[in-house]
Amino acid sequence: MIVVINGRDLHARPGDSLLDLARRTGIDIPTLCHHEGLEEWGGCRLCLVEVARPGGHGAARVVPACLFPARDGLRVDTDTPRIHRLRAGVLDLLLARCPQSDTIQELALQYGVRRTSFVERKNPDKCILCNVCVRACTAVGANAIGTAGRGVLGEIALPFHDDPAACVGCGACALSCPTGAIDMVDTGFKRRIWQRDFERVRCSACGRPTLTQAHAAHLATRSGLPAESFQVCDRCHREQAGARFLDLLGK
Ligand code: FES
Repeated sequence: MIVVINGRDLHARPGDSLLDLARRTGIDIPTLCHHEGLEEWGGCRLCLVEVARPGGHGAARVVPACLFPARDGLRVDTDTPRIHRLRAGVLDLLLARCPQSDTIQELALQYGVRRTSFVERKNPDKCILCNVCVRACTAVGANAIGTAGRGVLGEIALPFHDDPAACVGCGACALSCPTGAIDMVDTGFKRRIWQRDFERVRCSACGRPTLTQAHAAHLATRSGLPAESFQVCDRCHREQAGARFLDLLGK
C-alpha cells in the first residue's frame, strides 16, 4: 500500500493511520491529544493534514492525521499554507485558554502566534482538555477522573469535584499530560495527587519507593497475581528477569 506524503512514496502497513506512517518515516506532524499507548481521540485538531483522493481528483480535504487511515494511492500534504493557517488558529485558541503553558507557547511560536488574538481565560491553568489523562486513567482501570463543564468552563475533574476515592495514585494522568497540568508531588514514600496523599511501597529488593500501595493492590486485583508481584520496582524487576533469563541459558 503506497501513500504519497509531501511528494514521497511511502509504504503503509495495514492499520496505519496517516500519523503512524508519517512519524515512522520521519515526517513531523504536531500533536497534543495523541498518545502512543492510548486510543485515538481526535480532539485537539493540531494534526490536521490535507488529503486528496487517489488519482488526485477533486479538492483536497482537511482531516486529522491521527484518525485518518492510510489508504493506497492517497496523496497527503502536511505543511501547506492552509494547514499552517488552521494549526495557527487552533494554537491561537489554546493560547487564550492556557497562556502560561510553555508547551503551547512554544508550539504557537512555531506557527507565528506570539500572543492570542482572543480574550485570555480568567484564572487560566495549563489544561488544554486533550483528554489524555482521562483516557490514561481509564486504561489503568481506575476511572477516577472525567471531563466536567462545557466550553471555556470545561475542565478535567474528580467526580463532584471532591471524590478522589477511585484514584489509586498511579500518576498515569500526570505523567501522560502533554502540558504538565496535573500536580503530582513525590516526597520519599509519600505521593500527593488530586488532593490525596498516598503511601508508596518500599521495593523489596532495593528499598527505594515504587508504586503506591493503592496502585499495587489495584494491579493485584486486576491481574489475579499475588500482591508480592508488585512489591518490586521496575528496575529491580528488569534485573531479576534478566538474571532469570541468563540462568535459563545456563550462563
Ligand atoms: S493529535 Fe490528532 S486531533 Fe489531536
